[in-house]
Amino acid sequence: MKTYKIAVLPGDGTGPEVVDEGLKVLDAAAKAYDFKLDTQAYDFGGDRYIATGEVLPDSASDELKAFDSIFLGAIGHPDVKPGILEKGILLRLRFELDQYINLRPVKLYPGVETPLAGKTPAEIDYDVVRENTGGLYTGVGGISMKGTADEMAVQSMVYNRFQVERCLRYAFERVRIRHTDGAVWKGLSEADVDAGKIGQLTLCGKTNVLTYVFDLWERAFYEIAEDYPDVKTDYCHVDATCMWMVKNPEWFDVIATCNMFGDIITDLGAMTQGGMGIAAGGNINPEGVSMFEPIGGSAPKYTGLGVINPMAAICAGAMMLAELGELKAAAAIEAAVADVTGTKLESMAARRMGYSTSQVGDLVAERIS
Ligand code: IPM
Ligand code: MN
Repeated sequence: MKTYKIAVLPGDGTGPEVVDEGLKVLDAAAKAYDFKLDTQAYDFGGDRYIATGEVLPDSASDELKAFDSIFLGAIGHPDVKPGILEKGILLRLRFELDQYINLRPVKLYPGVETPLAGKTPAEIDYDVVRENTGGLYTGVGGISMKGTADEMAVQSMVYNRFQVERCLRYAFERVRIRHTDGAVWKGLSEADVDAGKIGQLTLCGKTNVLTYVFDLWERAFYEIAEDYPDVKTDYCHVDATCMWMVKNPEWFDVIATCNMFGDIITDLGAMTQGGMGIAAGGNINPEGVSMFEPIGGSAPKYTGLGVINPMAAICAGAMMLAELGELKAAAAIEAAVADVTGTKLESMAARRMGYSTSQVGDLVAERIS
């Protein structure tokens, strides 16, 4: 039987609770679809840091490279200064494992309330491909004359062609993957379809102001597009992207963007799909080891109460299975999630689901077998 080695990083706050439910559902999927998950837990997070003074052992990323995938809960502890754990664990792993894609589906499940009045699941369903290891997150910059009136600080958005190109190629491929079942993206005009298009990739940038970095992105985008005649290309400035994500989310199929813009627009996207309780993401190295996580934080005030929504972790588990190639199992989890949101849960918000954290996991798991 096929066995996948999974490193589990429950992390801080409510991370362990949602990870338990994610694993419960993954186990149900493994049983139903005939594979095994061999899990090993790591205690990286705030408590370990407070107890030992070490954020992440230097051996961590090499050890994690031996796994097929990584399943992460949440990083962030109220007693640790902001930045230490986020940079020292989450960002460090993204960099050291070269997880250069952050794939964040924005998908409204049935029965989930969206703040976008009148929008239905058919209209909120697109993927954001966020470049995940470069740009402003590279950390190039510095501060001088700190504490004086002349103090100045600089932090640069740095990209090379290689980083931009591999991200954009992944995004073009993503459009194809979204339409492998033959379903052509409904936003296309008849003329587009006649011209052989199946879907659309929108480049989200800021070519009117960031005239160096997005000149590079834009040229790469249109050059690579020649290899993808079946993908319609579209460009949107980041501020306009925010506007359309609220007003006309059905205009998007796949959006590709830089690290910082991707960070910002995916929180907006998460709210439009019902909030952090349901938003999942994958830090992906298509040639290496990827890491899947609910994109919300550790929600410390809800820790241990059994009231946090585990759906985002469960959806992250489905994304992990898809990346491992277990497409049927991944689709079964998604269908189970859709049934539970559509017929059971009263809300996506912590405390207000009408069920406890583990009951939500049970509801999804029992629909898979
Ligand atoms: C995210 C988070 C991280 C980021 C933080 C915690 C460093 O906001 O995964 O979106 O900025 O990438
Ligand atoms: Mn973020």
